[in-house]
Amino acid sequence: MTTSIDFTDELGRRLAAAKHVVASTGAGASAESGVPTFRDLEGYWSRYSPEELATQAALVRNPILVQSWYAERANRLKSIVPNPCHNSLVEMEEIFPRFDLITQNVDNLHQEAGSTNVVELHGNVRRFYCSECGSDRKNAMPDEIETAVCCEACGGLIRPDVVWFGEILPQENIRYACEAARACDVFLSIGTSSVVYPAAGLAEIAGSSGAFCVEVNIEGSAAAAIMDELCIGPAGRILPALAKLAKTVRRANTKS
Ligand code: OAD
Repeated sequence: MTTSIDFTDELGRRLAAAKHVVASTGAGASAESGVPTFRDLEGYWSRYSPEELATQAALVRNPILVQSWYAERANRLKSIVPNPCHNSLVEMEEIFPRFDLITQNVDNLHQEAGSTNVVELHGNVRRFYCSECGSDRKNAMPDEIETAVCCEACGGLIRPDVVWFGEILPQENIRYACEAARACDVFLSIGTSSVVYPAAGLAEIAGSSGAFCVEVNIEGSAAAAIMDELCIGPAGRILPALAKLAKTVRRANTKS
């Protein structure tokens, strides 16, 4: 693990004093595990149109295409493992009195790494349910889908448990996330382009409520201007160094 990353002294002081830290992750947090992002050159939305794949209308229009795309994503995740970014966020749970992990990711990798209180804003691509009666699909989706997969109870089309365009987010989760952003001392925005709301608004809420806002990204995002500190580089390299810094400054704080 490298620690040659330059964090400011102010970040060290904020982490030393923080009672409540929020980390908000996007697709970049999973990029080093091999999960494609959405808006990078090789990202999903450079190859597919969201209207073709991520709406209820698309499911009705072309169920085999939509179900195959999500089943393939879900099945591919079975051989993908968390990276040092996910693992460092697990360590951070232990470091601060309150630590909230809010994610736009649907890949379940934070949970697999061992994070215990993950707030999913956009759902989870490994779960599927009936778009008509809402019942959970118990068995895994097949790798090859030749005819539309339908609900055993009512015959409705099966869909992934992810938030599609035009749909509202799980209300309890977004309420919790906004409250956490408002109350935290340090807000970490990790691997997100910060263009999809309401998730992108969390950093604005945190900043305007007095939190020290830090962005970890390979390049400045749409929210870079409102950040107090930019850590430019891969999350899998920055997060271990950040967790190490947090441990060091808090240990020093306890002794003094
Ligand atoms: P995006 O694809 O929009 O952005 C990914 C971000 O990660 C970019 O800012 C990259 O620069 C950054 N990035 C890439 N590799 C990185 C690395 N190794 N370390 C750190 N940063 C890295 O993904 P999101 O912001 O997550 O919604 O997209 C938000 C939502 O848009 C997704 O949840 C999805 C999509 O439509 C739904 O599916 C509902």
